[in-house]
Amino acid sequence: MDIKPIVELQNLTKVIGKKKIIDDVSLSLYPGQITGFLGPNGAGKTTTIRMMVGLMKRTSGEILIDGKPLSENFEEGLSKVGVIVENPEMYKFMSGYKNLVHFARMQKNITKERIDEVVRQVGLEQRINEKVSTYSLGMRQRLGLAQALLHRPKFLILDEPTNGLDPAGIREFRQYLRVIAETEGVSVFVSSHMLSEIELMCDRIAVIQNGRLVDIRDMSETAQSHYYLELSPAETAQSLLTSKGYAVESLPVGLVLQAEKNQIPSVIQLLTANRIEVFAVQPHRKTLEDQFLEITGGGQIAEAHTK
Ligand SMILES: Nc1ncnc2c1ncn2[C@@H]1O[C@H](COP(=O)(O)OP(=O)(O)OP(=O)(O)O)[C@@H](O)[C@H]1O
Ligand SMILES: [Mg+2]
Repeated sequence: MDIKPIVELQNLTKVIGKKKIIDDVSLSLYPGQITGFLGPNGAGKTTTIRMMVGLMKRTSGEILIDGKPLSENFEEGLSKVGVIVENPEMYKFMSGYKNLVHFARMQKNITKERIDEVVRQVGLEQRINEKVSTYSLGMRQRLGLAQALLHRPKFLILDEPTNGLDPAGIREFRQYLRVIAETEGVSVFVSSHMLSEIELMCDRIAVIQNGRLVDIRDMSETAQSHYYLELSPAETAQSLLTSKGYAVESLPVGLVLQAEKNQIPSVIQLLTANRIEVFAVQPHRKTLEDQFLEITGGGQIAEAHTK
């Protein structure tokens, strides 16, 4: 990618006692992209994030924010970061709006217009003047998001932000993150131990296991290269396509074909010329679960590992 990363982790390592908790993690995070940080309980997500926001010292390695080492440009670096580490601290008996005004006062140059803007971005206009104690968990999370965005960070870090939210709340939160990444060009880094959630929310995922990054992949790449074909007879189609050099997998109904988009017209011609009926062709995204089974050789990623 030609675009400059906003955050770079370079060989980040953390040793506590004799234990290497984070082991040589290198990762670049880009503007406008939502990157998922996926790993089971105890994998090292929170520890990595704590080092990124200066809440914990690193043992070795470097963190660059906007090209500059955080160790040398601590305040300037962190002024570009917005963070929700644990459940955001709010004053329950003040309104959401007053909470934001309070946080705005602790930082430089935050105008009333900016407060109104973040309130709109997280969809809290209707309820912002009510006390936080009357908010649902999802609304409190969105208020936390508004607070983290006040100073226009270029980079937003969220550690398991959807913990405790119901499916509708998770979906809503995901949509707000998307809006923020797209409209403000913010680079979002969001941790989770749930495959399904990361899959829906992110453009890219980094997988951590036992303190080591075991995989980084782009969701869009995997989406483009596979197509689901509903056709009949499937067996004839499969041997025909295989004989022409295509990688084909059979499903209970139809096939999954690995191909680029510009190959699809000739695939359809080939099939129809051989009297195979094609009922549907659609992009097929292997689920992350399938991909993980491939990476981890069948090991379960989302379970606590033994230490
Ligand atoms: N201060 C500490 N002292 C000793 N060990 C620690 C300390 N902080 C974290 N650890 C260990 O480091 C490992 C990674 O913990 P971490 O909290 O970063 O995992 P996580 O991926 O955030 O997990 P979870 O999904 O449960 O939040 C764990 O084995 C944990 O016990
Ligand atoms: Mg954690």
